[in-house]
Amino acid sequence: MLKIDDIKKICVIGAGNMGHQISVCAALAGFNVTCNDISQNMLDNAKDFAQTYLKERVAKGKLTEEQANLALARLTFTQDLEQATGGADFVIEAAVENLDIKRKLFSDLDRIAPPHAILTTNSSYIVSSRIADATKRPEKVCNMHFFNPALVMKLVEVVQNPHTSEETIQLAMDLCQKLGKIGVRLKKEIYGFVVNRVLTAIKNEALFLADAGIATPEEIDTAIVNALGHPMGPFKLMDLTGIDLAYQICMERYKESLDPKDKPSPLLVEKYVKQEFGKKTNKGWYSYA
Ligand code: 3HC
Repeated sequence: MLKIDDIKKICVIGAGNMGHQISVCAALAGFNVTCNDISQNMLDNAKDFAQTYLKERVAKGKLTEEQANLALARLTFTQDLEQATGGADFVIEAAVENLDIKRKLFSDLDRIAPPHAILTTNSSYIVSSRIADATKRPEKVCNMHFFNPALVMKLVEVVQNPHTSEETIQLAMDLCQKLGKIGVRLKKEIYGFVVNRVLTAIKNEALFLADAGIATPEEIDTAIVNALGHPMGPFKLMDLTGIDLAYQICMERYKESLDPKDKPSPLLVEKYVKQEFGKKTNKGWYSYA
């Protein structure tokens, strides 16, 4: 039976919004990490981020130079999926939120990764039972949902699908602990898990209020931050997590439910069409230039 101490190499698929920070987090926790992406540009950005972030942590007195250098030495960035996944004990997939892409990826991961390796997805909305049957090891597949920014936010939702073994869930929970995170186990799959269901209710209401001209996004954020003590309001949070992601998630939901209340709001569509995706494009609900 695989134990947490047997896990030496972690492979993170996707160097985007989540993957680059999950990789650094795992390297800081002592794992050898390979971060894989189809885009060399994304990998270069992820590597630059790791170097800058670790340097800043040393300057801030949060890490010793030795800890930072060791973490950096444990990180490899590669476009080569075979190199990334070969010899991996644990895989965290954080690629784009597209079911077909994820199913193809998991079928490849199943072929390349050692038979003992656990295959997890960081997907926010795609439950792992929709992916697990693309592999021959469905009992070793589950969701591990991190939050943005992954180096800071403590929570990871560990979501069991009907085929996930108890051993896999225990390992995922143990890994959370080793990464310095707090794992919360969801015994059944549900669309959006716990946090995004609550967050979506807040976000949709905030968009409704802005669409109706009741208050501006800035005013709504000010209200939420100062009344509820949230660290940032729903619009600033969308800028952080990506307006494109918010739109895509809405569209996926709407395509499945055909319920008009799931349709992306007019303001969200406008931002998406203008490609004002938030921090990553320097403009979203706020400007960052
Ligand atoms: N990356 C890494 N570290 C970051 C960071 C980033 N983007 N932004 C801030 N930090 C670190 C800083 O280095 C600092 O660390 P230190 O205290 O150890 O030195 C610490 O966070 C606090 O940073 P700041 O003082 O600069 O800024 P704030 O106090 O305003 O905190 C924040 C920034 C942590 C982003 C805070 O505003 C926050 O918690 N916001 C809410 C985030 C949230 O709700 N996330 C969940 C999103 S939902 C999701 O991810 C689900 C997905 O499916 C979409």
